[in-house]
Amino acid sequence: MPTEAEERWNKDGTVLRDAIIAAGYEAELTFAQDKIEQQNADIENAIVKGAKIIVIGAKDGSAVGPAVEKAREAGIKVIAYDRLIMDTDAVDYYVTFQLEKVGELEANYVIEKLGLDKGEKGPFNIEVFTGSSDDNNAKFFFKGAWELLQPYFASGVLVSPSGKVTADFTVDNWQDISIDSWKMENAQREMESRLAKYNGGETPLHAVLSPYDGISQGVINAIETSGMPWKAGTENWPWITGQDATNYALYNINMGTQGETVWKDTRVLATKVAEICVQILKGETVATDATMNNNNIEVPSVLLDSVSVTKNGASDAKDTQSVQDVVDSGYTTEDQVKPYE
Ligand code: BGC
Repeated sequence: MPTEAEERWNKDGTVLRDAIIAAGYEAELTFAQDKIEQQNADIENAIVKGAKIIVIGAKDGSAVGPAVEKAREAGIKVIAYDRLIMDTDAVDYYVTFQLEKVGELEANYVIEKLGLDKGEKGPFNIEVFTGSSDDNNAKFFFKGAWELLQPYFASGVLVSPSGKVTADFTVDNWQDISIDSWKMENAQREMESRLAKYNGGETPLHAVLSPYDGISQGVINAIETSGMPWKAGTENWPWITGQDATNYALYNINMGTQGETVWKDTRVLATKVAEICVQILKGETVATDATMNNNNIEVPSVLLDSVSVTKNGASDAKDTQSVQDVVDSGYTTEDQVKPYE
């Protein structure tokens, strides 16, 4: 897994490892601490230890290429976990969630909250962020969102006071607004600098398209520490999106600082990957439902589904569940997400 520092990869790794062990095989879980060299070393170790399959949540989808090529030479199957491994033939399977749908859910949340679908003309101010420039997923998340939001930029209903995106911004420019390594601190710093264009809060901020809960937390921190006169839960607080249904985001949603997160049930992903591993080890056929291009080959892929999560769920927007639904599913517990009394 790419890092232990983010909540989701711990959940992913633990469920995956435990499912493989429960099926009667041996499994070892390592975290690359967001470092390319560490991940390459982890892969080389697995090769030396005689692994039959290596499952990789890539830190850097391209930089991991040479390491997986060594695995391929040693006859090991390689599964790209959640993030596609790019620019190499040495990937056997890719399992993830429908990538563009994540961005579509986030954009639709903004569209519905601002009433754009009802013909509201604004103009509304929005800040737009994309994920790490070394993660192919980040481009697709943005693509899904931008295809829905760009027309509103074109008609002048949405504007970005920081000037970071304009109507002629394209999906191919996505790395211009990337948050390196998806890190909260980097997002906070970037948002602080964008807030300089908001005249001490006199210019309103209506929405923030954030592709990940950690980035959303950085944005929230920036707003709160920069002394903006905007208060969570009131009309002058922006609608902020996110992804991963992390405990802190669900808590923030309960508190009213973050509006939405996209919930990709990582238990389903990890369980699916464990199932594929067992099929490979038993010599059975692995069923896939799509292919994803990694610049070299079409990688046989499985694409899972996700939903939006807001405080109130379905009554907020379509394709949406509530924080309580996430708790009820056993993905987290009430006490980890409840707001202060
Ligand atoms: C994953 C997201 C996650 C992000 C940051 C992406 O590759 O698909 O679920 O929020 O990385 O870890």
